[in-house]
Amino acid sequence: MSDEQYFTNQPRAESTAGTSKQKTAKLHVDDKILQLVLDSGVFARKGIDAGTLVLIDTAAQPPASGHFLDLGCGSGAIALTLATRSPKAAVYAVDVNERAVALTASNAKLNNLSNITSLLPTSVPEELRFDLIWSNPPIRIGKSELHGLLQLWLSKLTPTGEAWLVVNRNLGSDSLAVWLTSIGYQVDRLVSKQGFRVLRVRPTREADQSGF
Ligand SMILES: C[S@@+](CC[C@H](N)C(=O)[O-])C[C@H]1O[C@@H](n2cnc3c(N)ncnc32)[C@H](O)[C@@H]1O
Repeated sequence: MSDEQYFTNQPRAESTAGTSKQKTAKLHVDDKILQLVLDSGVFARKGIDAGTLVLIDTAAQPPASGHFLDLGCGSGAIALTLATRSPKAAVYAVDVNERAVALTASNAKLNNLSNITSLLPTSVPEELRFDLIWSNPPIRIGKSELHGLLQLWLSKLTPTGEAWLVVNRNLGSDSLAVWLTSIGYQVDRLVSKQGFRVLRVRPTREADQSGF
């Protein structure tokens, strides 16, 4: 299986969006049904990921407003959910994969969600702080890269902000929770469902919230 959707800025696989091979998925968010276009070279190209669905089904209702982040947005399932549940929030969807960034933007438009900004991580304004982060993080990029990525973005949480992460139990959710605790976050293992853990991560005074 090609893992290029985990690492690539510009996927080599030909895009299927807008072609006869285009795949779509329906995403149920409370009483609404959203439409998502999927694409080759973008994570979950054949259907919405099971872990993402566990996060969407189990995370607490987001605040009514604030600055939210979908870290590693892929085709945008998480960002679109946040934007639907909190229409007054400003939702930032970031991904290193340029095709994912563009796909999330077009999926937001398709669903008339004007409160999503989709962008590369390097384009996020340095001073921006987040009240909420939801992520199905790219575990497969490797432990040290993943730690660096989480440390960077969690340091951009406001002091009362929180992150909700969904992680496959077989891919190290429990050791990730232990590591996050060791760098100063309060971690609650809130849900264990279908082989996934949902972690709620909150800064304590020991955490480095300098945003780097
Ligand atoms: C497990 S996928 C989740 C995608 C999407 N949120 C979903 O639920 O379907 C992780 C995503 O993280 C992205 N990613 C990998 N490294 C990244 C980085 N350094 N910064 C931001 N996103 C990254 C990948 O391109 C991929 O889209």
